Amino acid sequence: MTQIVFPSPDMIQRAASALRAGELVAFPTETVYGLGANALDGKAVAKIFAAKGRPRFNPLIVHGADADMLRPHVVFDKRAEILANSLWPGPLTMILQKTKKTGLSDLVSAGLPTAAVRVPDHPVARDLIRSAAVPVAAPSANKSGTLSPTTPAHVHESLGEAVSLILAGGPCRIGLESTVLDLTSPFPLVLRPGAITAENIADLLGEQVAYDTLQTPEAPRSPGQVLGHYRPGRPVRLRAVDVERGEALLAFGPTTFMGLRGGGKISELPGTAIQNLSEAGDLYEAAARLFSALRFLDRPEHKRIAVMDIPRTGIGLAINERLSRAAGEDVV
Ligand code: TXA
Ligand code: MG
Repeated sequence: MTQIVFPSPDMIQRAASALRAGELVAFPTETVYGLGANALDGKAVAKIFAAKGRPRFNPLIVHGADADMLRPHVVFDKRAEILANSLWPGPLTMILQKTKKTGLSDLVSAGLPTAAVRVPDHPVARDLIRSAAVPVAAPSANKSGTLSPTTPAHVHESLGEAVSLILAGGPCRIGLESTVLDLTSPFPLVLRPGAITAENIADLLGEQVAYDTLQTPEAPRSPGQVLGHYRPGRPVRLRAVDVERGEALLAFGPTTFMGLRGGGKISELPGTAIQNLSEAGDLYEAAARLFSALRFLDRPEHKRIAVMDIPRTGIGLAINERLSRAAGEDVV
């Protein structure tokens, strides 16, 4: 039986003991819910791959309660220090070289000489990791290849009995996975866009930061980014300017100029066929609602989900990247 529990201090202690004993615990972060295991314990980490049905070549992010918890395991160079100081706790994951004495299980980094690390900005996540006193490997708490969970209910729907303890921390504030930044190549490269943009990072480092546009299935720099991620069950149609009968609408901003193809108003759509990510056109609100709204519209009675255009600025880049994947478009 899966237990979804309020994260009282007692429950956090219990969850921390479960982590130390090699069990899995799902917990909230500011981005999405994570499925955690002791990153130093190969057997525990193996349970994550089994529960998610995740390919073993796709490495995991290691979470610390603070940067000091991560220092024995990865090398913080000058850039990493600057970014950790200004952006942690927060939705930035850095790919760094592992130290010689790293205790991280090889499975965590899928045999790579590098590891992905971050300090989440959520009190429950940090209290849990601090109490467990071990770094915690945690991918998003969903089956591999499906939408990331932003509520405890999503975690349970996706993983079922594969996780026995879920710490419930309400809906995630940001709602999109962290920005993944590779600091092991000659210049910093964003492998996965998120709430922290390349521009934010460039301002702090005083050098250019590029989005990786060269990843191919043959040469993945972030293995997770070339998998068929974030796919809802229904097909997704992007940049919609109208709605076909039978489609559901994922709206953004005012819908005054949207109509039904062949005549009619979208007010004729049933309430279950429309979700507005942000009537005010606020990109942060849209990001926070994106995965919930896609899940809500992903029902058999809809032949497709039509999505209005969303500006490609700031966090809008990350929203568009997730939507392109959901639509099965090549993301380059
Ligand atoms: O917001 C988040 O990052 C959430 C929360 C739970 O922290 N976690 C998350 O983990 O999204 P996951 O496993 O779903 O995504 C991790 C991404 C994958 O694309 C993976 O390939 C990449 O990070 N990654 C991990 N280690 C890597 C490494 N050493 N080199 C390149 N990419 C790496
Ligand atoms: Mg994931």
